[in-house]
Amino acid sequence: MTEQPQGPDSSGVPAPPPAPAHGLRWGIKTSFVEYVRRTPGGTGSVADGAVPVSPTEILFALAPEPPAPAELPEGTTRAWAFRGDVRFAGHGGMMFVRVAHPWLVLDGTGTGAGDGATLSIEDPYATAGAPRVPLVTMTLAARPSPEAEADGVELWTAADVRLTPAGAELFNGVYPAGEPFEPVTVVVPAGSGQPDPRGGSVAGRDG
Ligand code: HEM
Repeated sequence: MTEQPQGPDSSGVPAPPPAPAHGLRWGIKTSFVEYVRRTPGGTGSVADGAVPVSPTEILFALAPEPPAPAELPEGTTRAWAFRGDVRFAGHGGMMFVRVAHPWLVLDGTGTGAGDGATLSIEDPYATAGAPRVPLVTMTLAARPSPEAEADGVELWTAADVRLTPAGAELFNGVYPAGEPFEPVTVVVPAGSGQPDPRGGSVAGRDG
């Protein structure tokens, strides 16, 4: 697959943009990325606030505004919006997968192992008024540490990331619902993404 070049530095050599301090780090599905890479004519692009941080992982930067409270389900305990638009295409355009503007929403179904969370994405075809697509669910565990506290951030990780039924449709039914996807890591400002008891909004922003 070919990847979009990033902006050139003063020497004219393309330099990767600096990774943002706050964001969602995710490899989506490594076997899918590798499939696109080996598909003749397969392409991938990472743009609009997402940056590649390893050969298979992408960092979606924390968005300046949190998700609109009116768009969050009842029972939401924390919610963050992230920037970025990642696209995969191949087979003469018959294959097209877009993972854009993810939201991570904790739904209050926590267990001792962590909090139930859903990662949703914008409608892949950006159809006006189309609902967001719940892509994967997971158990998100807080990872407190003195270093994170000193940096004023919260670190959360999820290992059991599973494809939703709607997500299975995005991949043309090749993966079943429940298919394991890559682990998720989130770094956000301490205390961000919490429902505001005064106005029902979600506090915490970047930028
Ligand atoms: C002309 C259309 C298509 C052809 C000829 C085709 C062909 C193939 C072939 C041969 C494989 C298995 C070989 C390999 O792993 O390298 C594969 C896997 C796969 N294809 Fe396609 N495909 C097509 C369309 C699509 C579409 C529309 C999607 C939707 C996203 C899709 C998603 C996938 C996925 C998710 C896998 C499994 C990758 C993995 O190993 O995790 N394909 N396809």
